[in-house]
Amino acid sequence: MAQEKSIDQKVDSLIKLMTLEEKVGQMNQYNGFWDVTGPAPHGGNAEVKYQHLKNGLVGSMLNVVGTEEVRKLQQLVVEETRLGIPLIFGYDVIHGYKTLAPIPLAEAASWDMEAIEKSARTAAEEASAVGLNWTFAPMVDISRDARWGRVMEGAGEDTYLGTCIAKARVKGFQGGDLSQPNTIAACAKHFAGYGFAEAGKDYNTVDVGTATLYNSILPPFKAAVDADVKTVMNGFNTLNGIPVTGNSFLQRDVLKEKWGFEGFVISDWASIMEMIPHGFAKDLKHAAELGAKAGSDMDMESYAYVKHLVENVKEGKVDETLVDDAVRRILKVKFELGLFDDPYKYCNEEREKERLHHKDNHASVLDMAMKSIVLLKNEHNLLPLKKDQQKIAVIGELADDKNSPLGSWRLGSDDNSGVSVIEGLKAYTEDFKYAKGPKIFHEGANFLNEVGVNETDRTGIDEAVELAKESDIVLMVLGEHGFQSGEGRSRTKLDLPGVQLELLQAVHEVNQNIVLILMNGRPLTINWEAENVPAILETWQLGSQAGNAIAKVLFGDYNPSGKLPMTFPRSVGQVPIYYNHFSTGRPNPEANVFWSHYSDEKNEPLFPFGYGLSYTTFEYSNFQIDDSDQNSIKVSATITNTGDSDGEEVVQLYIHDKTASIARPVKELKGFQKISIPSGTSHNVEFNLTDKELGFYNHQYQYVVEPGEFSVMVGTNSQEGLTGTFTKD
Ligand code: NOJ
Repeated sequence: MAQEKSIDQKVDSLIKLMTLEEKVGQMNQYNGFWDVTGPAPHGGNAEVKYQHLKNGLVGSMLNVVGTEEVRKLQQLVVEETRLGIPLIFGYDVIHGYKTLAPIPLAEAASWDMEAIEKSARTAAEEASAVGLNWTFAPMVDISRDARWGRVMEGAGEDTYLGTCIAKARVKGFQGGDLSQPNTIAACAKHFAGYGFAEAGKDYNTVDVGTATLYNSILPPFKAAVDADVKTVMNGFNTLNGIPVTGNSFLQRDVLKEKWGFEGFVISDWASIMEMIPHGFAKDLKHAAELGAKAGSDMDMESYAYVKHLVENVKEGKVDETLVDDAVRRILKVKFELGLFDDPYKYCNEEREKERLHHKDNHASVLDMAMKSIVLLKNEHNLLPLKKDQQKIAVIGELADDKNSPLGSWRLGSDDNSGVSVIEGLKAYTEDFKYAKGPKIFHEGANFLNEVGVNETDRTGIDEAVELAKESDIVLMVLGEHGFQSGEGRSRTKLDLPGVQLELLQAVHEVNQNIVLILMNGRPLTINWEAENVPAILETWQLGSQAGNAIAKVLFGDYNPSGKLPMTFPRSVGQVPIYYNHFSTGRPNPEANVFWSHYSDEKNEPLFPFGYGLSYTTFEYSNFQIDDSDQNSIKVSATITNTGDSDGEEVVQLYIHDKTASIARPVKELKGFQKISIPSGTSHNVEFNLTDKELGFYNHQYQYVVEPGEFSVMVGTNSQEGLTGTFTKD
């Protein structure tokens, strides 16, 4: 019996049949912005795209959703083009399609890899049911700058945690078998360095040294590739002078050559064209040449390849083998998705109806949302609230907001579909009063425009104060608008926008029993709040089930277990601030000014990386290091739940390589375990340190493990723990 042809053989046979134009067509991706279910478009861009689809000049569409829509365009190419190669349909399923999980930064705060994987799985279940087979997620950009609005889309500041999350999310989206109709291809983005935009300004210049590139920026991408991610997206930024889209060191030498990535690279939106304003390409034809040579396999909306790549090849500027390589990669992913067996496999109308808003999806995002909440402060055990025992006031515009909890990446979800805090509380008690307080955000904020903030009108503060006076406890929901973080949403200030602090201070004058419920997409500078408010819950933007998750935590039905994936600064002037910084030559306080510090602010953050409390307390003891087996050094500690309630603790392990040929950070996370410990019991936690944890990349991008002394800490956050040392021979 003839053996089934492998995917590679099928791709090879198909490529042989393709004209140069058809090959370049596969490298072209268009955005769909017309009603594809209506009559064929006449005039403008839409008609050009439609004709290109019919003529086999398009390999992929983005932003076309719905089984009917996807089927219609798929039919057009499968039935009308010469070779009938199916399209792959991409979309930004960042933290869900219609049913939204928490923003990725919030999910990272759970430190729960199983839950994060499941959340991505839920997103894939829903997205695949509406015709999609490719998500532009996970974003695995490390960032240390809370001014950058896109920190909400990543896993925070730490490479080790980011690496674990990258793997979990890729696995979740892609599942065990990509050919199943409920799995979708993932996309690790933005390759590379986008999170290091100067001054936190989106799209800005990135200039970093090799130590940072190799040790901090690249590992999560490598982990995604090792987890078999099918696609990688480059970015808008330059890296050390070269746009990443035209960067063959990154895309060819590192990604495809050194790491053996077999999937394809998609450009970011028009990033091939943007090499012109970057001053790297002289015109669109030159941009197409540079992009293709550098290994950008598919062009998202620059029109550069479709217009100029054939010409570039014919003129000998781009070798046709490079085009073949790109097309081979794209076709391979299409085969792996099973699109050649059945181009309509994601177009099952029944499944679409059944999966959208399925109750399982809501249960999954609720679970994720509870796990993402971080308890920052809880003086006098103000939380959890006691049911029916107290007069509760709820204050703040965000408490009644059903949009902001959805965050800014919510293209597929319905407006006002998030459960607000008010709605969540109502499931527990009707017995609370609400005062909206002053206007915080102007109406009309959307994905495209800036959010308008009221800085002057204080109407509403008095009413809130009156309510606070007659209440036992005040829940204040304050923070950022959902559209204040995300792409194109950098801030120079990190405080509570508008008159929110004034509102808080006015309430505090009359009632100090305040629980501050923060809703935001990035770390904030909340010094006054942290000093004066007895209880603070960081709830980020928790998605569709936000209010229910918050209420469950407030009333103690879920004991908070999240830990910060990003440092909270005291002042914007400290940014970038991150726990795994390097030592200076003058790290210690001196009587004079000549040591590494600020004149007007502490060096320490407000809340460190890894920080988060619980309704119970944990004690660390019995710290042990066993370095007798140098291939696997054992570090262990006992954690005891010394409080009254059961709880979960994220036990964190940090190392410091004291002397090395390239200075190492003062601390680096190299392990963590999230464990559940019943009240009054203890749990022993053991970590193994191998060469994988103890080495680093040198300037030649070689991984080295050097002998010498290490210090090690096991603790509850990046600043507190039990410490010891060992020697690596
Ligand atoms: C631009 C963003 O940078 C990228 O992350 C996203 O996937 C694309 N737009 C497509 O929407």
